[in-house]
Amino acid sequence: MARITASVYTSHVPAIGAALDLGKSHEPYWQKVFSGYEFSQQWLREHRPDVIFLVFNDHATAFSLEMIPTFAIGTAAQYQPADEGWGPRPVPVVQGHPELAAHIAQSVIQDDFDLTLVNRMDVDHGLTVPLSLMCGAQDPKTGAWPCPVIPFAVNVVQYPVPSGRRCFALGQAIRRAVESFDEPLNVQIWGTGGMSHQLQGPRAGLINREWDNRFLDRLVEDPAGLAQMPHIDYVREAGSEGIELVMWLIARGAMADVAGGPKPRVAHRFYHVPASNTAVGHLILEN
Ligand code: DHB
Ligand code: FE
Repeated sequence: MARITASVYTSHVPAIGAALDLGKSHEPYWQKVFSGYEFSQQWLREHRPDVIFLVFNDHATAFSLEMIPTFAIGTAAQYQPADEGWGPRPVPVVQGHPELAAHIAQSVIQDDFDLTLVNRMDVDHGLTVPLSLMCGAQDPKTGAWPCPVIPFAVNVVQYPVPSGRRCFALGQAIRRAVESFDEPLNVQIWGTGGMSHQLQGPRAGLINREWDNRFLDRLVEDPAGLAQMPHIDYVREAGSEGIELVMWLIARGAMADVAGGPKPRVAHRFYHVPASNTAVGHLILEN
């Protein structure tokens, strides 16, 4: 059977992708951000999964604002890096895992979560920046991401967005789905987006270090309690785009302890301000 071996949590700041793509990652400003991922890149080489289930949000790129699924699972064989206005990022094409994705869709939908099936989708910075941070820069032609990726898009752009409670329960359903796939695959689940940031309005630039670090503490120690937090707390304390953090609860819900198993091991924790307008947070938990 397949199993979930670890979860990874990270911000997806688009300027991080631009810094890498434009060769600026050694500038002092960016070096401080990338230094938090040196351990992670080594860890990923040593704990290479067969598949990454990558929870992210599309920023009105693939779905536009005309059609907005709450939860969408990528069932395609490949995903092209999206053009977000400056041309596609020069990174490798993302290979999918249609068999596992179709199985997860079957299992999770029968488990009463309504997913949208996506057979074609370009993936924006929400998905490619976490891959770049964890895998390092990759040549678009000769390089490749370390394994197939199942993109799982969550609407955190247009209200109403799903609650933390529902995201946490969905993570548990994803775990059940993975564990009922009849192949011995090592699967990692990544929760991305966040941490505190607000990109517009009078509070643009809002960062809340204390709240972010408390979120990281609770994500490790008290995820079920954290999942009860209402949207208004995220928005008030972590800014309008801080709501992206509900996606981390999907990954956390898929960990063994939530299903009665042992507590995860914290392999790595990192927090840094600023990266563009955003606080960068990062955790690696091992089952
Ligand atoms: C920024 C952060 C985001 O999460 C995003 O999607 C776009 C911009 C920023 O910090 O600039
Ligand atoms: Fe974002």
